[in-house]
Amino acid sequence: MKNSHEKVEKNVGMFFLATVLAISIGGLVEITPLFFQKETTVPVDNLRPYTALEMEGRDIYIREGCSNCHSQMIRPFRAETERYGHYSVAGEHVWEHPFLWGSKRTGPDLARVGGRYSDDWHIAHLTDPRSVVPESNMPAYSWLNENTLDGELTGKKLATFNWLTRNRSHKDEQGNPIPLYTQAEIDGAKDAVAGKTEMEALVAYLQSLGHALK
Ligand code: HEC
Repeated sequence: MKNSHEKVEKNVGMFFLATVLAISIGGLVEITPLFFQKETTVPVDNLRPYTALEMEGRDIYIREGCSNCHSQMIRPFRAETERYGHYSVAGEHVWEHPFLWGSKRTGPDLARVGGRYSDDWHIAHLTDPRSVVPESNMPAYSWLNENTLDGELTGKKLATFNWLTRNRSHKDEQGNPIPLYTQAEIDGAKDAVAGKTEMEALVAYLQSLGHALK
């Protein structure tokens, strides 16, 4: 009698379908529940949206590839929490688009770097890392001191974040969503950042990291 395995194994199409099916079930079982778990979709209490300047700083962080060397995710291990602080939770990141968790740590984790150093330290460090950490192999980003922001797109970025987070914002007492940014904040975004240097924006962003769970 032919065993039924043989039928699948000798038929490429069927074998392919069976493989896809098996892998999809594994993925769906792991991923689907996360869409419905409150702690992965609801912001933590103290979470506040980025200011216009921090939002621009975040884009510079992405542009300069800081996440190629820095993660923003503290894992729940003692060695990490003693060094970096409370482990990261999903509710701190529900408004992030895209996530900047990273997966490589040439430098330290930055998830809670906000407030750890002064603004002046960050400026000195980003302009010339070796001036404050002699053994550092982090690249210098001195040009950020010279580039200024024009703010042309800042309002649009805030409006886009309102849309991206429309189902995951804080709720008022009646349960209505509170958009991240008011129309006044969106309209004022250009003036809030125009003329500031990219360095100021990046440092503002770094200082905001981890604010919700200190
Ligand atoms: C090539 C890898 C690399 C890149 C790219 C890089 N860094 Fe670093 N970074 C490091 C290393 C290594 C350290 C540790 C030594 C030091 O403090 O300079 C560090 C340290 C830091 C620290 C101090 C953290 C702490 O807790 O002491 C900050 C803040 C920082 N980097 C921000 C940035 C930002 C912002 C960018 C992007 C503009 C960036 N880094 C890009 C490697 C990198």
